[in-house]
Amino acid sequence: MEFRTIEELCGELETKRKTACAGGGDAAVAKQKAKGKGTARERIAGLLDAGSFVEIDEFVTHRCNNFDMAEKKILGDGVVTGWGTIDGRKVFIYSQDFTVLGGSLGEKHADKICKVIDMAMQTGCPIIGILDSGGARIQEAIDALNGYGKIFKRNVQASGVIPQISIIMGPNAGGAVYSPALTDFIFMVEKTGIMHITGPEVIRAVTGELVTSEELGGAETQNNITGNAHFIAKDEAECFAQVRKVLSYLPCNNLDDAPDKNTADPIARADIKLREIVPVNPNKSYDVHEVLKLVLDDGEFTEVQAGFAKNILTGYGHIDGRSVGIIANNPDCISGCLDVDASDKASRFIRHCDAFNLPIITFVDVPGYLPGVDQEHKGIIRKGAKLLYAYSEATVPLITVIMRKAYGGAYLAMSSKSLGADVVLAWPQAEIAVMGADGAANIVFRKEIEESDDPTKTRYAKIDEYREAFANPYRAAERGFVDRVIMPEETRHVIAQALAGIDSKRVTAPAKKHGVIPH
Ligand code: HXC
Repeated sequence: MEFRTIEELCGELETKRKTACAGGGDAAVAKQKAKGKGTARERIAGLLDAGSFVEIDEFVTHRCNNFDMAEKKILGDGVVTGWGTIDGRKVFIYSQDFTVLGGSLGEKHADKICKVIDMAMQTGCPIIGILDSGGARIQEAIDALNGYGKIFKRNVQASGVIPQISIIMGPNAGGAVYSPALTDFIFMVEKTGIMHITGPEVIRAVTGELVTSEELGGAETQNNITGNAHFIAKDEAECFAQVRKVLSYLPCNNLDDAPDKNTADPIARADIKLREIVPVNPNKSYDVHEVLKLVLDDGEFTEVQAGFAKNILTGYGHIDGRSVGIIANNPDCISGCLDVDASDKASRFIRHCDAFNLPIITFVDVPGYLPGVDQEHKGIIRKGAKLLYAYSEATVPLITVIMRKAYGGAYLAMSSKSLGADVVLAWPQAEIAVMGADGAANIVFRKEIEESDDPTKTRYAKIDEYREAFANPYRAAERGFVDRVIMPEETRHVIAQALAGIDSKRVTAPAKKHGVIPH
């Protein structure tokens, strides 16, 4: 018997490693770079802590012999998988390699992805996917489809257990888009990231519409029009910085606490500018970002879905070093009214925060639901119900700050006491009422106004009378629907006190399999 030497065997391993690392070869890599895209391994290195990546399954190959596939076996099968750390915390990762068969997903490619999702679940760590793929590997047919199905199933099982992040850095088409859509957040890079179900050619053939890939499903479209994506970056480096930032607010899993932030920002910092930002006149507009900047630690608000439904803000911040989710009406856009998109956006973020134990702080200045046939026909009833459902179902600490308007059904929907808010704070200019003073006076005093000698003067007098009587925080405070009326500048300190007061909150929901959330 003759054995090869250990040097020969190690040499063989070395060669295999190099081959695996080379992906689809120099020409394909050059093509990738020419598009401004990194390779699968460069991307992992760009995202994770330096030197932390541990690769597995680098020698996996497909076992398809259809067409000429037997000659197209490339080590790794078009996806790089493993784990590493971000800010010292472990994450699992897969990164599709477009240079290998267009990053297309076949049976073994899918098995590799499933393996790291399973490991992430078992170890309670986030899973990150970097997607750059031509979709189902056409030669592998039903095995490729089964691969996607297995990933979808795992995405759903992992939902609410570990954070799941999808980064779109190339094409992502057909049913393949549903894995990202099942994860917590989709990050897209401008120009290279594309998502759509059917591409421009199919659309042209079926409907006759002419559209480019970018217009149809580029990063701007998916962030600003459809709301499918949550973050947009100008390049890959910016995208990785965004992912790292978002993970810094999140626990590794639903049983862990989010990391605290070291901050020198005093909890009792009282910014008197808060008195000016929100005008007392309910008809005047302002940008609620300005409020958040003055309340949150170090003025830092990390916005989620900044380009979509700008009438409501969702995002993260810290108070006294503690990671919190923020929901805020923004009067700067359609007066901060709730509409179908805002309801969708807020509901999903509430459920995300609730799943990962982040207290939710809601800043309220809302005149109501946006009126109109369009909104009614788009289903504002079910969308509004979804928002009610999401807040009512949440068991994390809920703190509400009513800054100004809180009218009618929208008052209830925006984390009201009635839905289970733990601490409701109101500013002195808060108007908590069935509707605005103008509308209310017109209805309640219509007869008196019409019959008076000077209807305009009487109308204004009645509006003032109504405002004095009801459009303030004190009627709600008398009933205990508002726990404290505070000066605007006290907001930061009082939120910190409230968080400290209720952070050990425990709620037992009635036993059930799951509810049926309006959609
Ligand atoms: C096998 C594929 C492939 C695929 C691309 N390639 N997509 N191989 N299956 N789905 C191969 C190409 O043949 C080519 O191989 C190499 O990858 C690079 O592709 P190019 O076309 O040269 O690249 P580019 O010009 O950049 O175009 C990228 C692309 C295009 C837009 C993604 O390749 C494309 O349209 N591919 C098909 C997309 C698609 O219809 N996929 C199926 C979707 S249905 P060579 O050897 O020439 O380098 C689907 C169902 C999932 O995914 C359902 C889940 C439920």
